[in-house]
Amino acid sequence: MLKGKSIILGITGGIAAYKGAALCSKLVQAGAVVHVIMTESATKFITPLTLQTLSRNPVYIDTFDERDPAVVSHIHLADHADLIVIAPATANAIAKLAGGHADDMLSTTLLAATCPILIAPAMNVHMYEHPAVVNNLELLASRGVMFVEPGTGQLACGYVAKGRLAEPEDIVMAIDSWFGKGGKLKGKQVLVTAGGTMERLDPVRYLTNDSSGKMGFAIAEAARLMGADVTLVAGRTSLAPPAGVKVIRVSSAQQMLEAVTSVYDDMDIVVKSAAVADYRAVNVSDQKIKKSGEKLVLELERTTDILETLGQRKKHQFLVGFAAETEQIEHYAMDKLRRKHCDLIVANDVSKDGAGFNGDTNIVQVFASEGLVESMPLLSKREVASRLLELIAARLPSLGGRGE
Ligand code: CTP
Repeated sequence: MLKGKSIILGITGGIAAYKGAALCSKLVQAGAVVHVIMTESATKFITPLTLQTLSRNPVYIDTFDERDPAVVSHIHLADHADLIVIAPATANAIAKLAGGHADDMLSTTLLAATCPILIAPAMNVHMYEHPAVVNNLELLASRGVMFVEPGTGQLACGYVAKGRLAEPEDIVMAIDSWFGKGGKLKGKQVLVTAGGTMERLDPVRYLTNDSSGKMGFAIAEAARLMGADVTLVAGRTSLAPPAGVKVIRVSSAQQMLEAVTSVYDDMDIVVKSAAVADYRAVNVSDQKIKKSGEKLVLELERTTDILETLGQRKKHQFLVGFAAETEQIEHYAMDKLRRKHCDLIVANDVSKDGAGFNGDTNIVQVFASEGLVESMPLLSKREVASRLLELIAARLPSLGGRGE
């Protein structure tokens, strides 16, 4: 998808600037024509010569360093770009773009550009969560800027938290998928549920499960990258939501049911990746339950099956459920597909290494009414999300697909 595409790679001044070299190299290897623009601060972390060598093009830093009298560089670059990628994007670079500042080569080129912009932020977690940064990201998302979210892990500042630049392969995948199917879901309303639910027993205790929300958040991010308007109903998760996505936070299965049904009529695609509790306490104690006796028996009752409810009320919506299984995957997946009137069921064997609840990877099989339609090997949850949405887009009746 990248062959012959003209990409401006903006590298700004954070420690992750060194990963810009790997990203540049991968884009060039994939056939893209890459023009690198660095900020002055980025040059403190990595040399322009590295990027010049990898991109096989001159690197731009200073707006006034005009080398070709026939053109004005920032306008020329902006006019000929198919996409601008900023990776890493610092809090300052994000603020400048949000505020429309144009005081260096990168910010000036960004203002002159009419092509899409993709930003991969990287910074300390407290900076990433600062209200100013959150507002700037929201503002940019509302203008159609796309994002590859930072990952969670060891940060250069010593924290283990969200803020790491997404891996270069993930950024390349996002770029590739944007060229392949960018805008494929434009105008579509996508609802994603993610995370686990919490069922209270008393003020300090609850029943929950191991779901991290990573799969659902990756689906929300991928849908946004494909141009959809995304609503994310998130249960228990420690993840920060992807920028540009409308988030409704819920706790219990009942709250998730209410949130989902309140927006369901307006949705085109619904992906139910949340791990919803099947049972809740019959009586939730107002006071902390004191211990008494050797055994405690909790009386539980069934929650409403949200996916099944949506299946019964289905009109035009394309409905995708998940099935976490430990045996007879196909049998249970097909049973859920029929019982809950889904268009697709994404099944995973949660007993396998690399599949399931808490990791960054998954191994899934996707079933439709005719049986298995795609079997994905061990992949990052981002890649699973991207392939799943591609499959959904291909089958969406309003886009010419055959639906159920
Ligand atoms: N689901 C739901 N509401 C529930 C339970 C599950 O919407 N109360 C949805 C999940 O979000 C998922 C799908 O149903 O998309 C399958 O969830 P899973 O836990 O695998 O299956 P269950 O239907 O609970 O069936 P079982 O417990 O028999 O495996």
